[in-house]
Amino acid sequence: MLIRKAKADDIGSFVRIYQEAYRGLEEYAYRTRKEIRRYFKWLRKRNPDGIFVAVVEEPVGFIACDTNWYSPFGECQKKVGEIHELFVYPEWQKKGIATALLSRALAYAKEKGRNTAGLWVGEKNYRARKFYEENGFREEGKLGRWIRMVKKL
Ligand SMILES: CC(C)(COP(=O)(O)OP(=O)(O)OC[C@H]1O[C@@H](n2cnc3c(N)ncnc32)[C@H](O)[C@@H]1OP(=O)(O)O)[C@@H](O)C(=O)NCCC(=O)NCCS
Repeated sequence: MLIRKAKADDIGSFVRIYQEAYRGLEEYAYRTRKEIRRYFKWLRKRNPDGIFVAVVEEPVGFIACDTNWYSPFGECQKKVGEIHELFVYPEWQKKGIATALLSRALAYAKEKGRNTAGLWVGEKNYRARKFYEENGFREEGKLGRWIRMVKKL
């Protein structure tokens, strides 16, 4: 497995894997191909160098980190490394791929001078909440059906 920066033409893999990864978690995800394509373009506009893709012959997972994100939430009212997105193709889960993607994204945020990482996770997305907790994030608050998690870098 290798991790590289995502390119504009990774959009097809992004949409395909996103739809598979969020099966059963639709309440926290975009549904249509059009929305997911627009989302990928938005992520690239926010921080083109912060999107990474894990490749095993072909793409199997993505992470999007935004180091220009201002978080007005909780104790860290400052620019953070915001993890907008992380997903792995179901058949490739539980092999350490998300852990590797997260570690690459957090290293990138640190390189950019951020000392806090943050993200929002769906309250019933127990697998992801456990994953982030095991990777050093702690819950900092709640807004509607979303949980705020942060990690000091
Ligand atoms: C959450 C998500 C990204 C985790 O991806 P993943 O690639 O399975 O994560 P990892 O493999 O790095 O770690 C997950 C588990 O596999 C275990 N694991 C890691 N490497 C392993 C290996 N070589 N063999 C067996 N298990 C392994 C980890 O210890 C961890 O165990 P746990 O489930 O008991 O906590 C994935 O489930 C996903 O895409 N979910 C849908 C999208 C989503 O919810 N995204 C988050 C939105 S905020």
